[in-house]
Amino acid sequence: MSSRALPKTPPRPFVTANFAVTADGRISTRNFTPSDFSSKRDKRRLVKIRATCDAVLVGGRTLAADTMTLGIPGVRGKKLPLRVIVSNSGRIAPTLRVFEKPGAPIVIFTTRKMPAKTRDALASVADIFIHPTPVVDLALALAILRADYGVKRLVCEGGGTLLRSFAAADLLDEIHLTFCPLIFGGSAAPTLSGVPGKFLPKSTQLKLIEMKRAGDECLTRWSVVRKKTRTAK
Ligand SMILES: NC(=O)c1ccc[n+]([C@@H]2O[C@H](COP(=O)([O-])OP(=O)(O)OC[C@H]3O[C@@H](n4cnc5c(N)ncnc54)[C@H](OP(=O)(O)O)[C@@H]3O)[C@@H](O)[C@H]2O)c1
Repeated sequence: MSSRALPKTPPRPFVTANFAVTADGRISTRNFTPSDFSSKRDKRRLVKIRATCDAVLVGGRTLAADTMTLGIPGVRGKKLPLRVIVSNSGRIAPTLRVFEKPGAPIVIFTTRKMPAKTRDALASVADIFIHPTPVVDLALALAILRADYGVKRLVCEGGGTLLRSFAAADLLDEIHLTFCPLIFGGSAAPTLSGVPGKFLPKSTQLKLIEMKRAGDECLTRWSVVRKKTRTAK
C-alpha cells in the first residue's frame, strides 16, 4: 500500500459579512421590506467595508428588494470590488439597476433553473456560471472567484437565507453586525439566518473582536472560531 496525499481544499477568499439588525435580531420586516432602518453612519460603514474587499456578494432576493447597485458611491479610478450575485432560480430581472449602473464586472452564480431568456438577456452584462446542482454550490463559487478573478477578500451583504447557507457550509470567517435601536417582532420577519426555522447543522462559534457605540447604534465585528484539527502523524 502506498500513502497518498489528501486532496487539497481549493483556496477560497476570506469571507466577511455585513448586516444591520434590530435589537430583536431582525434584518427586515415580515414583508421583506428594503433594509433601510440603520443610520447614515452605518451606511457609510457598509461602503467602507465594501471598499476593503475584492468582491461584494448578494442573493438575488436582496438585490431586488434593496435595489442595490453594489458600487462605492463617489469612488472613481480605483479598482472597484467585483459584483457577485447568487440565485438558485436564476429569476433575476435584467432591468435591475445593478445592470444599468456602470461599475465593476458582474458575476452571477446560478443553476440550470435560470430561464434561457434571462440568460440571454444577461450574457452581455455578466459572466454567468451555471451550476449543475439544484442549489448553487457556494464552496465552488468561492473557489472560482479566487482562481479566476483573484478575489482574496469578499463581503456577503445578505440576505439571511444566503448567510444561513454560508454558515451551514462553514464558509464564514467574520461578521460585522450593527445593532439598531428598534424592535420589529413578528415570527415571519427574517433574522440573520433567514426566517426562523430549523437549527443549523452545527452552531457557528463567534468571538467578539470590536464593539463601538455610535449614537444609539452598536457597531460590532465578530470572527468565526474554528477548532484546530489535529494532523495525523
Ligand atoms: N438588514 C440587513 O443588513 C439586510 C441585509 C441583506 C438583506 N436584508 C433583507 O433581507 C431580505 C431578503 O432576505 P432573504 O433571506 O429573502 O434573501 P436572500 O438571502 O437574498 O435570499 C436567498 C437568495 O440567495 C439565493 N441563493 C443562491 N444560492 C443559494 C444557496 N446555496 N443557498 C441559499 N440561497 C441561495 C436564492 O436564490 P433564488 O433566486 O432561487 O431564491 C435567493 O435569491 C430583504 O428584505 C432584504 O432587505 C437585510
